[in-house]
Amino acid sequence: MFKVAIITSSDSGYAGIREDKSGPVIKKIVEENEFEVVHTILLPDEQNMLSAEMKRVCDNHIADLILTTGGTGFSPRDCMPEATMEIGERSVPGIPEAMRAYSLQFTKRAMLSRAVATIRKNTLIINLPGSPKAVTECLEYIITELKHGLEILTGQATNCARK
Ligand code: MTE
Repeated sequence: MFKVAIITSSDSGYAGIREDKSGPVIKKIVEENEFEVVHTILLPDEQNMLSAEMKRVCDNHIADLILTTGGTGFSPRDCMPEATMEIGERSVPGIPEAMRAYSLQFTKRAMLSRAVATIRKNTLIINLPGSPKAVTECLEYIITELKHGLEILTGQATNCARK
């Protein structure tokens, strides 16, 4: 069972002004898909805090997968992609490319997503959008293939001999 950490980036959530709805949506979807959520945290849109938390989770191998939500748009405070790339070691462009391509059928605004994915040590990090609707659409689309990627990353599978 792969271990998942969920990091929400939201100034208003951190200040207690707005409820984090997307973090719980991620938790529900991954648990339905037999992942184990080992850590959840709500942080403000501060690049240093976000990157430090991702680095801590990766370097202590707290989780195999970090899913982030929020902070991927154009607002001046949105810095999740920058925080992710700051500590990432190996870029994984195909996952955000796939999410954007799929999401365009729901809204052309998906082209405005700046989400990235990367690997640090044995942990895969993926930025998801901020809204519960967008999170659901994106995560349900990628989750099956994520399992295979994580099997390769963690050495549980060595090749892609399948469909
Ligand atoms: N992707 C999907 N699947 N569905 C959506 O409704 N909303 C988009 C986009 N991706 C959306 C989506 C919008 S409106 C924006 S501005 C960007 O994601 C960035 O989202 P964020 O700022 O909430 O992270």
